[in-house]
Amino acid sequence: MTKNTYKTILSRRSIRRFQQKPIKLDQLKKMINAARLAPSAGNLQPLQFIIVNEKKLCEQIFETIGWAGYLPDWNPTKDEQPTAYIIILNRDTSKPWNIRDASLSSENIVLTAESENIGSCILLNFKKDKIQDILKIPKDVEIDSVIALGYKAEKSINEDIKDSVKYWKDEKQVLHVPKRKLEDIIHINKF
Ligand SMILES: Cc1cc2nc3c(=O)[nH]c(=O)nc-3n(C[C@H](O)[C@H](O)[C@H](O)COP(=O)(O)O)c2cc1C
Repeated sequence: MTKNTYKTILSRRSIRRFQQKPIKLDQLKKMINAARLAPSAGNLQPLQFIIVNEKKLCEQIFETIGWAGYLPDWNPTKDEQPTAYIIILNRDTSKPWNIRDASLSSENIVLTAESENIGSCILLNFKKDKIQDILKIPKDVEIDSVIALGYKAEKSINEDIKDSVKYWKDEKQVLHVPKRKLEDIIHINKF
């Protein structure tokens, strides 16, 4: 990793506007290697991953995604769209804790991306059936989540929460992400 882990965690923000510069396949594989080595309940490793980096497929997936729920009048434009996606697949939905495996793998992916200055956004708001068709995913394999990826074309910063959890854009189009303060969420030795 080019940055140390703690700095990478602090600097990562969800990015939804991207430069139209491709990510190397090796870098995408490196993200999945990090996902592969995440903790796994019972070490059952139920996940599989699809890298999508073909322009046509990326364009089709872009159309199925719901972006930034707190900015209802805003969407990335076509020339700001992700240049790659990683689709996380869950082969066993009978075990509810497999979602945790997927969450841990997702975090490894977005942190590996951030360590290489690649922006990312974990997505759950997308049309599952459409992506299932586009990528020819068998019906018995569940799409857990989609991670949008690309070189960053926007700035996002976190700030102490005031009265709302809703992220917002200032006049320079910088995204501000309110986070709860450490002293408001931490308990030491008792609640
Ligand atoms: C489980 C999960 C689902 C999410 N789904 C979406 C989504 O569908 N669309 C979107 O634009 N952002 C999505 N996000 C990104 C969140 O909006 C973002 O993480 C949150 O606003 C905090 O910003 P930060 O990631 O920069 O800290 C999702 C994040 C998580 C963890």
